[in-house]
Amino acid sequence: MKQQPLDQDLSVLLSDYQILYMKLRGYHWTVTGPLFFGLHAKFEELYDEAAEKVDALAERLAARGSRPPLTLKEQLGLARLKEEAAQPSANDMVRNIATDLEALNVSLRKLEQAAAKAGDAATENLAQGYADGQEKTIWMLRAFLNG
Ligand SMILES: [Fe+2]
Repeated sequence: MKQQPLDQDLSVLLSDYQILYMKLRGYHWTVTGPLFFGLHAKFEELYDEAAEKVDALAERLAARGSRPPLTLKEQLGLARLKEEAAQPSANDMVRNIATDLEALNVSLRKLEQAAAKAGDAATENLAQGYADGQEKTIWMLRAFLNG
């Protein structure tokens, strides 16, 4: 079934948050060094947020009468973010997450505009809320890296 453009955007975002979720879990498990305690906890906080977003995006799709992508295979086919099999340094982990969130914010702001144009206030608000929150997270991650 061909999805409407907004549903396609929501499906891609859902899939991207699944990739981000798994990447953050991997970082949570494998981060090492003097920054361990702070980053181990921060990555957990961020993967919990990513999981909540996956759920909210799926439910937004359902409310719009569209089927969310249900399998990891389907989600991998849709996602724009790349999986991480390597075990980067603690700083590179933070840099990768900041970069992924920046890419997500570009998609979210586009979706916000498209939803406004289509008169879908719920999707507009959802995208705007995520982008606004992530701007703050990106600032914090960049501040950490500049320390
Ligand atoms: Fe844990």
